Amino acid sequence: MFTPLPPRLASPSPPGPPVGGAGGLVPIRVLTEQSRPALLRHLLALASEDRHLRFGHAASDRQIARYVRGIDFGRDEVFGVFDRDLELIAVAHLALSADAPGEAELGVSVLPRGRGRGIGTRLFERAATFARNRGLHTLRLQCLSRNEAMMRIARRAGMLVCAGDGEAEATLQVPPRSLLSHFDAWLRDMIGELDFALKRRLRRPLAARPGPWGPGS
Ligand SMILES: CC(C)(COP(=O)(O)OP(=O)(O)OC[C@H]1O[C@@H](n2cnc3c(N)ncnc32)[C@H](O)[C@@H]1OP(=O)(O)O)[C@@H](O)C(=O)NCCC(=O)NCCS
Repeated sequence: MFTPLPPRLASPSPPGPPVGGAGGLVPIRVLTEQSRPALLRHLLALASEDRHLRFGHAASDRQIARYVRGIDFGRDEVFGVFDRDLELIAVAHLALSADAPGEAELGVSVLPRGRGRGIGTRLFERAATFARNRGLHTLRLQCLSRNEAMMRIARRAGMLVCAGDGEAEATLQVPPRSLLSHFDAWLRDMIGELDFALKRRLRRPLAARPGPWGPGS
């Protein structure tokens, strides 16, 4: 059953400028086991209302820690966006269903200081491309129907949104993979890795860097 969505809640922070303009480039990195502590810090930094929007309830610190411990990096895919200080500013967790092969559920979060700049949209797109290349057929998203930002992302991606009782489920029928979708994922992963390597290098003190300022020079 489809029902109209209620008007959005007032935004706590006005949207910032887009990242890289239309179709803007957001360096997104595939996260691994090593990212677990950063992932935990990111989710713990979400305020109560954001935790509600992300998890469907105002998850406690302990519940978030359990959730992060339970992520299976071998099965699921987790994407992240790092800021200059290498803190995770945004995360998308694509959980592959063990019960329903071919389906996956997506959860996205962007810290308030990164919002309204297209990061959530790009993370969604990256996760959808991953699902496509993995040969999945359905991508699901559970959220509160008053979550206008997420609803906009879902609708623009062509997701079928079914809303009722304050909750919404959005479903995307994932198109078949193609050479181009694989190339797109490869290119974006390269950009994400390069961006991360560059930020890490810039953070390292001059004395620790190889080259004219490094040890032995
Ligand atoms: C939902 C969320 C991921 C969006 O991230 P974001 O980086 O701000 O998203 P974008 O910048 O790509 O914006 C997406 C769209 O929402 C709009 N938008 C952004 N913030 C908004 C707000 N507070 N109210 C209404 N619309 C908003 C943007 O203008 C954009 O729409 P447009 O492309 O049609 O102009 C982020 O707000 C968030 O982490 N919220 C808390 C957790 C959550 O709700 N997770 C989703 C459930 S899984």
